Amino acid sequence: MNTTPKTTLITSLSEVFTADAVHSVVRDAAILIEGENIAWMGSAAQAPAADEVIDAGYRAALPGWVDSHTHLVFAGDRSQEFVARMAGQEYAAGGIAVTTKATTATSDYDLTRLVMGRAAEALAGGTTYLETKTGYGLSVEEETRHARIASTVVDQVTFLGAHLVPAGMNAQDYTDLVCGEMLERVAPYVQFADVFCERGAFNEAQSRQVLAACAEAGLGLRVHGNQLGPGPGTQLAVEFGAKSVDHVNYLDDSDISALAGSWENWDAATRTGTAGTVATCLPACDLSTRQPLAPGRELIDAGVQIALASNCNPGTSYTSSMGFCVATAVLQMRLSIEEAITAATYGGALALGVQNKVGSLEVGKRADIQLLNAPSVAHLAYRPGMNLTGPVFRAGIQVSGKP
Ligand code: NIG
Repeated sequence: MNTTPKTTLITSLSEVFTADAVHSVVRDAAILIEGENIAWMGSAAQAPAADEVIDAGYRAALPGWVDSHTHLVFAGDRSQEFVARMAGQEYAAGGIAVTTKATTATSDYDLTRLVMGRAAEALAGGTTYLETKTGYGLSVEEETRHARIASTVVDQVTFLGAHLVPAGMNAQDYTDLVCGEMLERVAPYVQFADVFCERGAFNEAQSRQVLAACAEAGLGLRVHGNQLGPGPGTQLAVEFGAKSVDHVNYLDDSDISALAGSWENWDAATRTGTAGTVATCLPACDLSTRQPLAPGRELIDAGVQIALASNCNPGTSYTSSMGFCVATAVLQMRLSIEEAITAATYGGALALGVQNKVGSLEVGKRADIQLLNAPSVAHLAYRPGMNLTGPVFRAGIQVSGKP
């Protein structure tokens, strides 16, 4: 029996944007996949032979998106809340309770189908590595159920029991529950934990308690911070060595310095050393809540590694389109197209701690590749709002799009 993995050559690529440390672009290119991984990449004219050849028709290729921040485990509809917001109402954390009620009333079967449907939409849009959070359960049974369901669908699950204090419950009692029985029950299904450190959600002391307990339980950490106003979230994330702080709309100089300091022992040119806290910008959410866009340009200039993520959720960002996030980052946040794509691929992988496996196209890494129905990756921002995603490959297998 032949045990050599099958080889597939994707050729006739107009350009390959690799999202490696120096943003390499290979033109008139081909990529050889062997089994799950990239085995070779270079000029199509020098491509090796392969078991199967796919003609890309002069499309551009780039890494699959790594969406490091979503909340896909939900039921119900909050479109009227969005309409009210567009008419001038302010976003408030309390809307989470509306989703909690609808989700709690939804069976395992229906909830699993909803999560699977959203994950399939993300994949069709080029997302090949996907994180999602709990946080619409807010009770021991529901948070455990949501974590279990999510773990059957996505690549990584984050425990966000500390999303909102349920109505009628004392904030300290609920924080103790999150850090006690809830954490214990959810832990087998999750890799990370998160806390919504914000006015109307969890204060600094409660956030510290959650982060300490979850670290003690061996989970990686992240923080929802500085979304609705200035606050301690970002500095707490750095202090606790969190992999990411997400939202970061309201940062002052000391927040940006703290984030930059966390990257002091990281060599960006070789991508080696000790990774710090990634600042995850969520431009679709910023637009949908009419918050100031996160200062992505300033963060990059200060030496902070950033990620772009969709924050797909029913309250503040009901889209999983990473292409939309990339276009917005270029058009509105003043990132270059290369910086924006890198933030949506390698940046997301850094935030999830999987940068050695996914997030860039390099020999030896997993063959997570999206082809664009366009000759260059610049089209992602040049033609905003267009669905440019062509065939998508995950671990070397074509999982979406026409051949
Ligand atoms: O990331 N900020 C907190 N959580 C979500 C929104 C939750 C909701 O309103 O349903 C977010 O924006």
